[in-house]
This record gives sequence, structure tokens and C-alpha cells, in this order.
Amino acid sequence: MHKDDPLVTSVSKSMELYNQASKLIPGATQLISRRPTRYAYGITPAYASSARGARFTDVDGNRFIDWVSGIGAVILGYCDSVVDESVKRQIDLGTMYSVSHPIEIELAELLIKRIPCAEMVRFAKGGGDACAVAIRIARGTTGRNKILFSGYHGWHDWYLAANHKSGELDSHLFPGIDPIGVPVELSGTVLPFPYDDLDFLETLLEDNREDTAAIIMEPLRSEFPSEGYLSGVRQLADKFDVLLIFDEVSTGFRPTDSGVQPLVGVTPDMAVFAKSLSNGYPMGAVVGTRKAMQPAAQMFISSTYWSDTIGIRAAITTLEELSIRNSVSTIHNTGQILKTEISQLLQKYSLPAVCDGVDWHPYLRFHTEDNIQLINTLYIQEMAKRSVHTGMSFYINESHGESELSETLGAVEAVFTILRKALDNGQLHDLVETIPQTDGFRRLVR
Ligand SMILES: Cc1ncc(COP(=O)(O)O)c(C=O)c1O
Repeated sequence: MHKDDPLVTSVSKSMELYNQASKLIPGATQLISRRPTRYAYGITPAYASSARGARFTDVDGNRFIDWVSGIGAVILGYCDSVVDESVKRQIDLGTMYSVSHPIEIELAELLIKRIPCAEMVRFAKGGGDACAVAIRIARGTTGRNKILFSGYHGWHDWYLAANHKSGELDSHLFPGIDPIGVPVELSGTVLPFPYDDLDFLETLLEDNREDTAAIIMEPLRSEFPSEGYLSGVRQLADKFDVLLIFDEVSTGFRPTDSGVQPLVGVTPDMAVFAKSLSNGYPMGAVVGTRKAMQPAAQMFISSTYWSDTIGIRAAITTLEELSIRNSVSTIHNTGQILKTEISQLLQKYSLPAVCDGVDWHPYLRFHTEDNIQLINTLYIQEMAKRSVHTGMSFYINESHGESELSETLGAVEAVFTILRKALDNGQLHDLVETIPQTDGFRRLVR
């Protein structure tokens, strides 16, 4: 938005729909990260009507710059004409059949060419779905049950069972998750380990030497790990003869157009992709070495829509376009500008915060003793009023351009002015017009 544009004053239709949904859909949204309580409830939009490039229009007719990028799924921009045209051409050929379509092989070959650990590939329709496939394969291939994990890996029983021991998911997902509906018999089959702590992982492997199938982890979060950490994990996996799985769903193809492996120089046995793989079309993939994956031919891993050609076509085109357009360098450049400019503004307004993290997904983190939730909520609330939809991090896509950057930085400066005054005058409570933001996905900010 420009300095003199009017503030967004109403998301009333969004909230009407949200109330209606609450009566019809348990939990109201399909994804917890789409709940308006994660932003500034009643002020940020809850329902979109259309999106293009880096912006969307909500059901009240407000237009927002979007730094959430479909919770990371959109990497080239909304409604990307090249991806969408290729999908439309596929639709004209039919999207699913009684037999397979050759583009399954085309995408498998493309992933194998790009991703260091990939010699064989299975498809899925989302990240949690693909993680569950990888875990089944790991257990089936090794004949062992226990899974050691770090990070978030979807909603399935194998993962949520961790919280049968209370609090195990607190620092990997968020606190307070009750594993209702997950068989208590799975208790003890899945064990967390803290990121960036090799000693802890080694002890855990020692203690579970006989029955560990795999280590699954998000290889990178918002920051790089200590030097040698990921290669240390690789060495431990080899020493204890367990499979190493990288969950690249959240990092995806933003670190490089081949994922994170070439950047960190560590090759796992399997890796999982979804989200940015297909620029917002439903798709997921498990890739891995022949040794890890071939035994899956004997396992019951099967679903009708995993052959759906819309997601597969979208994935092929997205991967190709990422390389043709050199999108990764554009995304990194945008992240660097955000970090530099916002850091300068933080200094200018003497605010207790840092804007840092990996170039493709920088974060803004306040570090006061208390009131963090209030400060975060005020920031998100005031950014939304200035037509910028954001959480406390920036999920960058290729279509975030100069106008999005300059409008966002203008909004950030206006909001920092408000925050500075609020902190000076003890007005935080008065200025927050909604309930304070509830805990976000912790894994995004370490
Ligand atoms: C690292 C990671 N794994 C798995 C998932 C689950 O993916 P989906 O929401 O597509 O099931 C996510 C989603 O945020 C993720 O970030």
C-alpha cells in the first residue's frame, strides 16, 4: 500500500464465513495454520476469493500482499501462467485413468536427475501423506519399529503418538497437543531429539540400538545448524545402521532448485517433498536410494489419487520453471533485501528485535522479557491494516517484486513507529484490538 491509501477496516464477511464454518467443519479450517487465531483474529482475513502473483483479494474485497505464500506451497507466485497453462493442457487430456500415465515416469526421472539421494521415487498428495509413506518404507525395509524425529512431520498416528509422553511435541510443533484418537499402544515407538545436539542423538541411538528403523528430521529450519551437525547425523545413522530421512517439505526447492542436499553437502537415504514441489497443486514425493526404496515393492503402499496427473504435471512444470527463471536467486535476493532493510528500521526505532534467518525464509523475532504475544499480535494486526498479510516470518515466492518490497517496507516502518510509541507509553494492551496470537509453529523459528 502507499502512504496515503486507506487502512483495511473490515473483514466482516471473512468472520461471518468463519463462524458459519465453525458450525459445519470441526476446527473450521482444514489446516491449523489457516486458523485466524494464528494471526490477528477479526482483523486479518480468513477467506480469500482470488490470488495472483504475490497478492490475494479477500471475500470483503480487500487486497493484500501475501508473505505466507499458501503456507509455503506457492514458490513461483499464485496463478502462475506457465504452470497453470500446462495443467489446463493436461486437463484436456483427462487427469486420471484406469491405467497409469507416462508423466509419472517423467517426474520420477526429473527428481532422480536433480536430487542427490534419489534413485527411486514414490508419489503422494501432500507432505504428511508422503512422510507416512517414508516411515512405512523405513520400517518395512529395516524390519524395525522405532523412529527418532526432529521437527514437524504431519498429522498421522506414527508422529502424534510421540505426545502420549506428555510434551514431547512442544518444541517440535507447539505445546498443548493432546493425541486424542491416536492408539496409546503406539506410545514409545517415536522419540524426539533436539535439533543441533549430536550427543543427545547418539545417546538416544545407543539406548534404542536394537529396534530403531530411521531418523527423520527437518534438515534446516530458519537458520543453519552448527558446522558439521548434519554430517554428524549422517555418520551416526551409518554407525547405528539406521536410515536417515530428510523431511524437505518446508524448505522444498527454495534453498536450491534441487532442494537442500546440494547446499548442505549431506545425502540422506530418503527425502520427502511436497508444498513448493508443485506451486500449490496437491502433490508429494518420497525419493531415496534403491537400497532403501526397492523393498517397498513388497509393501502395501497404495492410493488412487497418487497417480493424478494434475499434481504431477504441475510438479514437472514448476521444477523446470524454477531452473529456467533462476527463481532461487530471485527469492534469496528478496530475502536479503528484507533482512537488511528491516534490520535498519529496527535500529532506527531502537526496537528489541532481530530480522534474520535463511535468505528464503527470514523471520522477525522480538526478544523482550514479556509481552511477546502482544507485540507479535500488534505487528500482525497493523501490517494487515496496511494490506500486508504476514506472520512473524516471510515465506518468499518468485513473484514478490519491487512494488511488494517497497510497499511492505513502508508498512513495516509505519508499524515500527506505532510499536515504539506503544512500548514507550506502556500502551501495548490498549492498541491490540484482538485476542493475542496463539502459539505459532515453533519449528519455523528456532
Ligand atoms: C516439514 C514438514 N513436514 C510435513 C508437513 C505436512 O505437510 P502437509 O501439510 O502437506 O500434510 C509440513 C507442513 O507444514 C512440514 O512443514
